[in-house]
Amino acid sequence: MISKNDELTVTILDLGVNGEGVAKVDGAVVFVPFALPNEVVKIHIIHAKSHFYVGKIVEILTPSPMRVTPPCPHFFKCGGCDLQHMNHACALNFKTNLVINALKNIGKVENAEQLTLPCISKNEFYYRNKFSFPVGTNGEYAFVGMYKKNSHEIIEIKNCHIQMPWAKTIIEIFNNFLNTSKNTVYNEQTKQGLIKHLVCRMENNQLLVCVVVNGNKLNNHEMLIEKLKPHFKNFGLMLNVNKLHNNVILSNTYKHLYGIKTISLVEDNLKYETTLNSFMQVNSQISNLIYGHVQSMVENEIVVNAFSGSGFLSGLLAKTAKHVYGIEIVESAHLDAETLKTNNNIENLTNILGDVSEKLKTIKEFNTIVLDPPRKGVSKEVVNTILSVLPKTIIYISCNPSTLARDVNSLTNHYNIIFAQPYDMFPQTKHVETVVKLKLKQQSQF
Ligand SMILES: C[S@@+](CC[C@H](N)C(=O)[O-])C[C@H]1O[C@@H](n2cnc3c(N)ncnc32)[C@H](O)[C@@H]1O
Repeated sequence: MISKNDELTVTILDLGVNGEGVAKVDGAVVFVPFALPNEVVKIHIIHAKSHFYVGKIVEILTPSPMRVTPPCPHFFKCGGCDLQHMNHACALNFKTNLVINALKNIGKVENAEQLTLPCISKNEFYYRNKFSFPVGTNGEYAFVGMYKKNSHEIIEIKNCHIQMPWAKTIIEIFNNFLNTSKNTVYNEQTKQGLIKHLVCRMENNQLLVCVVVNGNKLNNHEMLIEKLKPHFKNFGLMLNVNKLHNNVILSNTYKHLYGIKTISLVEDNLKYETTLNSFMQVNSQISNLIYGHVQSMVENEIVVNAFSGSGFLSGLLAKTAKHVYGIEIVESAHLDAETLKTNNNIENLTNILGDVSEKLKTIKEFNTIVLDPPRKGVSKEVVNTILSVLPKTIIYISCNPSTLARDVNSLTNHYNIIFAQPYDMFPQTKHVETVVKLKLKQQSQF
């Protein structure tokens, strides 16, 4: 019987879904954050629950050859990354196994190992094109930070190793602005204070800076513009007014203060624009790989691109498809997709604004459907509509193996999985992006 504050020595058997080590003592599961498979570690039990325990490493008695020193000094405290203590091969293996285990255990896919390909990766660090950092204070000065692991405490960070190098410059500039301008910092407990978050996105040397405030204005905003000018040629500054006291970072109310309002890009000969509140994948190198992969699977046929965001993938698919229907619920993203259609003279694309659960029912015929839903996956209605139309191919892009496996399970009576391809869209974190291709079975196999 294990109790809180016990000290024991365990051998780590595997990694859990959060990248933590997993050991077994007398049949009970013990989670050991930051421990790696095959390591022998001395641990201190910090949580003793009815059916599992959590142990903190006191000493690593036998270190794994896969253990590395995290490059980020904030790693063991910061809630942003989970895997910086393991080498890249170990992290990729962990992600491939996440997909296999979800397909096997939730999706009930018997041959998940054979169907799942090794995780593809491009960049280990410095990949993010966007950040949303909370702003905090230590009583002496204000700073841009990150939430501490499993908490809402804001810890100061001077740099973030998964952000592109421009993020460090902005952090320095904004920290300076915070402490020299006449602005207060928002406090989650008292619900008082002005500045809540700093949200930035940069692509192709175009930077969008957004300050989220619990109020109507940012004092001395001209000062911030002047501080940014020597470092960034092409940028825009906007305010997001968010007076609600919840976990949602951005409201729908923006005030444009300076410079560019959108980011304009040309990729694969497609001109497109995106705004701050339209969804955009955070790792452009990996998302471009995925888009190319998905495009290669689409022939001259009628395609639905459900959950289409700013419409880049719709535009790409329209190059080979007979017709593409893009469905997106966020108005700004839908408008981006309409601009993309106009700017590129695409005639075989229809962008539909609305909920996929409703709008998919209005498309009577399609041969291929691309699904790229948020973490919660697709609704029962979407599955039912797909099963009533029975398109020959389903391409499911997912950032959550659990909901992916659940949704795949509801389709496998009628569809065969051809492959599951994990991608390391979010290196150093426990998250993985997966593309699954499903093919309609012959009628006789239903
Ligand atoms: C994971 S993103 C994918 C976006 C796009 N495929 C891309 O690669 O940029 C999911 C998108 O689905 C949209 N969305 C979320 N729920 C939706 C719903 N019920 N109906 C339609 N779109 C939805 C979000 O606004 C977001 O743009």
